[in-house]
Amino acid sequence: MGFLETVAILTATWLIATLTYGLYNLTLHPLRRYPGPPLYAAYRLSYVIANIRGKLPFEVLDMHRKYGPVVRIAPNELAFTEPAAWNDIYGPGTATDAAHARLRRIYRQAFTPKAIEGPGGMLLKYADLLVEQLKVSAGREPVQDMSAWFNYAMFDLTGDFSFGETFHCLDSGGKSHFSLDTVLERYKLLTILSPLLALFAGDELKKAEMMGRYTKELNKKKEDQLNNPELYENALTLVVAGSETTGTLLSGVVYFLCKHPDVLEKVQEEVRAAFKRDEEITPTSVNGLEYMVAVLSETMRVFPPAGFGFPRIISSKGGQSVAGGWVPEQTRCSIFHHAAYRYEDNFARPEDFIPERWLVGAPAEFKDDKKEVLQPFMVGPRGCIGKGLAYVEMRLFLAKMLWHFDFELADPTQQWHERLRAYLASTAIKCERLQQRQCEQSNPAVCTL
Ligand code: HEM
Repeated sequence: MGFLETVAILTATWLIATLTYGLYNLTLHPLRRYPGPPLYAAYRLSYVIANIRGKLPFEVLDMHRKYGPVVRIAPNELAFTEPAAWNDIYGPGTATDAAHARLRRIYRQAFTPKAIEGPGGMLLKYADLLVEQLKVSAGREPVQDMSAWFNYAMFDLTGDFSFGETFHCLDSGGKSHFSLDTVLERYKLLTILSPLLALFAGDELKKAEMMGRYTKELNKKKEDQLNNPELYENALTLVVAGSETTGTLLSGVVYFLCKHPDVLEKVQEEVRAAFKRDEEITPTSVNGLEYMVAVLSETMRVFPPAGFGFPRIISSKGGQSVAGGWVPEQTRCSIFHHAAYRYEDNFARPEDFIPERWLVGAPAEFKDDKKEVLQPFMVGPRGCIGKGLAYVEMRLFLAKMLWHFDFELADPTQQWHERLRAYLASTAIKCERLQQRQCEQSNPAVCTL
């Protein structure tokens, strides 16, 4: 047989195998009855391509809008939007391993409300440093890149929290650190690699989740103490998981406030009326800012820092019920934050930024909002361990910024969020530059610019 004939036969065989595989997925596969775009249901390639382009969460939202609250987004994967699905997919009793549970147990001590209050001094130190350095920088150049500043602050703070060592992004006057650049690049790389890993890894996927990489090694050990390499590795995980997420959320909130000057005015009034002096703004006093807390919730809804879906594999023998429907064993299931939060069945006027919907006594049009679907930190044994810390950070930093500065977009015509692409845990690829102005008369003590 000649070379060309061999190539032709191999190509034909490959084509037939590929078509048969796609046909099997559409007609015989256990998930065949679930609705979804045929190309996605037949092959994972479409999912992988959308993922690499950073467009997957947006495409999954379009699919939900077309096919409903449960969509087949890959041959063996379903995406859900119902609030009940959170517990079924991620809740207590879902897959985790002993080593991971051990790590959680050890690290939980660092994240109790008491422990978080402990480094209150640390939180204030970095919030004040951000304000101080931003004032100096804005004095020289009024247009400032707020995404960069928030990332510097969160990176320094989380570095101190995790390693006991700052990265000096802030006190060097706003200079990035190569580790921060690496973190941002790493997210993109992980996103590109994760679907490919999923193709080959199957069940191992669970172990590739955050901390999982380390827990695999720890499986052999019994002791409830971390050795130095473990401490180092987990500190790194904390920096990655805890800095860019909170930084992204803070960038988002300032952007959406600038886009909605009425909301900005209202929240600024609340903060400035509540505190006469900067020293009154503390990790505990900010909890009373009801409207600001609603602004943060609404930002997490329209702009979740981890807008992605974090898949879990159904491991119960024979399958299990998810949001009232039966899902076969070995199916990958997820809730895409971006899709669930923008889905019309869950929220009225889902595309609009309306903090009032989160207030006690919200306007009647939001009475059917399914607020419990908002779980930006996830739930269950692998949910965010830093949730409590993140809330304190976001509230404290935002209150300080609103009290000290006025903001407006350097270029109000730009639609920053529409150009974003979503990678594994980050959406802030490119940030808008924000204008920072002199403070209002209401705070003469801080009009130093
Ligand atoms: C707005 C801020 C934050 C958001 C939206 C967020 C979101 C998340 C999400 C969705 C997960 C679950 C990932 C999964 O299930 O695979 C997670 C896990 C995690 N987060 Fe956060 N996070 C935030 C802030 C923080 C902070 C401040 C810290 C700590 C300094 C932190 C530390 C972690 C760790 C260590 C995990 C892994 C937990 C485990 O595997 O058991 N996060 N986070």
